[in-house]
Amino acid sequence: MNYVFLNGKFIPKNEAKISVEDRGFLFGDGIYEVIRAYKGNLFRLDDHIERLFQSAEAIKLPVVYSADEIKENVFKLLEMSDQKDVEVYIEWTRGVAPREHSFPEDATPTFLIMLLEPHSSPPERYRKGVKVVSFPEIRWKYPYIKTVNLLPNVLAKQHARENDAFEAIFVHQDTGIVTEGSSSNILMVKRGKVYCHETDESILFGITLKVVMEICEKTGIEYIGEKFTYDKLIEADEVFLSGTGAEIMPVVQVDEHTISDGKPGEVTKKILAEFLKMTWREDKISEYME
Ligand SMILES: Cc1ncc(COP(=O)(O)O)c(C=O)c1O
Repeated sequence: MNYVFLNGKFIPKNEAKISVEDRGFLFGDGIYEVIRAYKGNLFRLDDHIERLFQSAEAIKLPVVYSADEIKENVFKLLEMSDQKDVEVYIEWTRGVAPREHSFPEDATPTFLIMLLEPHSSPPERYRKGVKVVSFPEIRWKYPYIKTVNLLPNVLAKQHARENDAFEAIFVHQDTGIVTEGSSSNILMVKRGKVYCHETDESILFGITLKVVMEICEKTGIEYIGEKFTYDKLIEADEVFLSGTGAEIMPVVQVDEHTISDGKPGEVTKKILAEFLKMTWREDKISEYME
């Protein structure tokens, strides 16, 4: 955890420096990824790297490393760490240049890989489920790009913290459409079917969401990708979040509304159990559910 990969070199984290003229700092002109390693096994690394390149293409970032080179450096950093349950954080910005909004002509992108403490929750939280609160959808039109411009997400998560909630979910004030959480996707279960907002430009297509789709397919649960409103969400049989940090987190309260009987539902538990198997924690299933 003490080393980072910065612009081609492995250096101690406390010696890593980024210029005040870095466009990631000045404009939020950069993208990122967060990948979970369980016991040293990287979960869905290829999917995350593919999404990193999709984000890079969407903001026209020059490519400095190939996917294979990035993966190799991630593996090396993980090997150098004594902690093997970590989050791998990758940030790639447009680099250092005198402050001017348009793209610099000759800047080299800044590329960072570092390891973070995982945002994991204790099993009890999964057994009991969590509360989420709504927050106005104040973001731009392209949340499918995983950019470091996270101010609305920061404000939303702070709103959650101040209201004793695990997560804040973005809701369009005009239509009531629920998009996603500040750092997770939100799903609901109605009459045995799993629903999530369609994966268009207005949400991030979570890698964990992709895994949920695969689990549904494998276990014969019908999955429907379509928009739903806040009114539908609070009447759902089950609600849960998916995300690299949240994993598969049952939601039992949305604002002041209790979901069903206030306990994690059976479909959510089935998906969580499959997720635990896929993430090398089959032995922990009974700890995560009642
Ligand atoms: C806004 C947003 N939506 C969804 C997700 C879930 O994505 P993933 O499952 O790839 O972690 C994240 C993860 O950070 C996020 O920031």
